[in-house]
Amino acid sequence: MKKSESEWIDQLSAMATASSQVDSSLYAKYDVKRGLRDINGKGVLAGLTQIGDVQAHPEGDATGPGHLIYRGMDIEDLVAGFLPEGRPGFEETCSLLLSGELPNRAELADFRERLGAYRLLPDDFVHDSLLKLSSRDMMNAMAQSILALYVFDARADDTSLPNVMRQCLRLIATFPLLAVYSFHAYSYRYAGKSLVIHGPKPELSTAENFLHMLRHDSRYTPLEAQLLDLALVLHAEHGGGNNSSFTTHVVTSSLTDTYSAIAAAMGSLKGPRHGGANAKVVAMFEELKREVKDWGNDRQVEDYLARLLKKEAFDRAGLIYGIGHAVYSTSDPRTIILREQIEKLAAEKGVAEEMDLYRRVERLAPELIGHERKMYKGVSANVDFYSGFLYRLLDIPAELFTPIFAMARIAGWSAHRLEELANGGKIIRPAYKSVAPRRVYVPLAARA
Ligand SMILES: CC(C)(COP(=O)(O)OP(=O)(O)OC[C@H]1O[C@@H](n2cnc3c(N)ncnc32)[C@H](O)[C@@H]1OP(=O)(O)O)[C@@H](O)C(=O)NCCC(=O)NCCS
Repeated sequence: MKKSESEWIDQLSAMATASSQVDSSLYAKYDVKRGLRDINGKGVLAGLTQIGDVQAHPEGDATGPGHLIYRGMDIEDLVAGFLPEGRPGFEETCSLLLSGELPNRAELADFRERLGAYRLLPDDFVHDSLLKLSSRDMMNAMAQSILALYVFDARADDTSLPNVMRQCLRLIATFPLLAVYSFHAYSYRYAGKSLVIHGPKPELSTAENFLHMLRHDSRYTPLEAQLLDLALVLHAEHGGGNNSSFTTHVVTSSLTDTYSAIAAAMGSLKGPRHGGANAKVVAMFEELKREVKDWGNDRQVEDYLARLLKKEAFDRAGLIYGIGHAVYSTSDPRTIILREQIEKLAAEKGVAEEMDLYRRVERLAPELIGHERKMYKGVSANVDFYSGFLYRLLDIPAELFTPIFAMARIAGWSAHRLEELANGGKIIRPAYKSVAPRRVYVPLAARA
């Protein structure tokens, strides 16, 4: 009897699983670095870059704090430059990452003005692309729009550096529009919300434009815009080895067009192992807040965290979201910077008690994880631990958490694409050893 579609699919998938599973002892036999990581979890050297660096510890200090470096400069120094002056830092960061140099006052004003002028989508694009083909996932909606922008670019396939620079600047400028409008289309189509589309304002920064376009009343406080801008700066770049930047290098090395390369990076960032963790942190805390009666009691909080590790709470993945990082160990510098600034907003919004709860989990979780798991290095709170909390304080819907990450990281992806092209590298093509046994072909008529 003919199988139903689901029976047929299940059978094919069971066969694919059986014929795909590789004996795990073979990885050691052939010295394959799974996930391109060594036995201690450290990434294998796959390239050289001058754009960004992620350092677990300062040189010669195995227990010191982590550092994030943009174009040779410590992120802490970059932030200490713009934050006290009350000016946005994301555009300056983009200019630095793309050109390799800090802009002077006149160059920065010029960069901002030109980026503002680039915040334009083709005529009818919002209606024809974003509203008509609305998606339940904003990252997919954005990727689809990025690929659609190819159609409107007369020099879409030109991979000369000036043309790629032009394309990247336009993408950096329009990402906030793609993110916000995709969300509005989704809320209108799937949640029955009113549809209000605000055009961008060229004089506003990237963060200000995002809040202006997102909110129906277009209003935001200077502190809100400043903190969103800071989050963008902290997410703009993370070396060449992170999954989406490496994807950008891999796809660019085939000499494909900018839109295809960036859409691929979006697909990578969407994954919950990469850009999707901050929404998980917020959801995990919602459960924690319900289940822990006394938020000020270490024992009660520890009990809940222990249940998370034993797969008895939240999504039963055994993870305390927002803790741990592939490279950082003692600390993630982005977390420290963000935490200090969020404290001000938490006080302004009257949620100091919840802020204390975050700090308590940040203090208690590393020891518990160290106790329950095999540790190669220490763990500490990563940037996602506080970024989701910040976005919630800014009333930003969870659907937009990863798109905000993309709005920032497009700067790093652009710099990495330009770097790959500038170095005229070879197509990235690592080796896979086949461990399948050789078999004899059986003619169709002879098969059982
Ligand atoms: C980010 C992450 C994937 C890094 O994992 P990693 O590179 O294996 O990190 P480590 O080498 O320090 O991990 C050592 C062990 O501790 C575990 N561990 C690390 N962080 C953990 C966490 N937050 N909760 C539970 N276990 C954790 C790891 O799974 C590993 O155990 P295993 O060998 O049994 O799998 C991991 O820390 C994690 O899943 N964190 C939670 C999700 C998150 O916040 N992601 C955002 C990252 S920016």
